[in-house]
Amino acid sequence: MSNAFLDVIKGRRSIYAIGKNTAQSEDQIAALIKDAVKYSPSAFNSQSSRVVVLFGHQHEKLWDIIKETLRKIVPEAAFGATETKLASFAAGVGTVLFFEDTQVVDTLQKQFVAYADNFPIWSEHSTGIAQFAVWTALAQEHIGATVQHYNPLIDDAVKNTWHLPAGWKLRAQMPFGSIEKPAGEKTFISDEERFRVFK
Ligand SMILES: Cc1cc2nc3c(=O)[nH]c(=O)nc-3n(C[C@H](O)[C@H](O)[C@H](O)COP(=O)(O)O)c2cc1C
Repeated sequence: MSNAFLDVIKGRRSIYAIGKNTAQSEDQIAALIKDAVKYSPSAFNSQSSRVVVLFGHQHEKLWDIIKETLRKIVPEAAFGATETKLASFAAGVGTVLFFEDTQVVDTLQKQFVAYADNFPIWSEHSTGIAQFAVWTALAQEHIGATVQHYNPLIDDAVKNTWHLPAGWKLRAQMPFGSIEKPAGEKTFISDEERFRVFK
């Protein structure tokens, strides 16, 4: 059975070689990202995901912050490789920062005490779903992206630089740009190991 949605999912990959040769305007990309997050589901329709989209020099500023943060903790001998890796992310056109609003989670925990333990877990599910939606929507537009995790090392610097609410918890960074080199082959474990279908 052919399925257009599955075709798009199958086309999404981690693209590490990104550049600035995207066909879309910044406004078009921002609108795509907003819709992908907006129409993603969340527990109790809590809409706890928050997103910051950085383009151009704002995006470069983020990767500078990450570089200077890592410079303090990565041994000097290994820092060259770190710098090269960070430069490859900065080479893209932008970065999506994914946050979860802890105030939303706190409020739900107070409001629905029986589910209190679940709300932080569901918040993590929600950011994962939002990240996947954005990643896949970008892929459909032939925009390559990866998911990175320099949080929590960079949390304070990010919040201060872009004046973000204290309750926004950074969950992931997604640098994106034109696909300069496709992803390599991907291997899959057997379906027998992963799935059990009863009928
Ligand atoms: C929850 C999650 C966390 C990930 N964290 C990172 C990360 O910190 N850095 C990175 O380069 N890739 C990260 N990845 C990407 C995975 O390594 C990648 O998706 C996986 O190897 C499959 O390759 P594909 O994305 O090309 O399908 C993450 C993926 C997921 C789903």
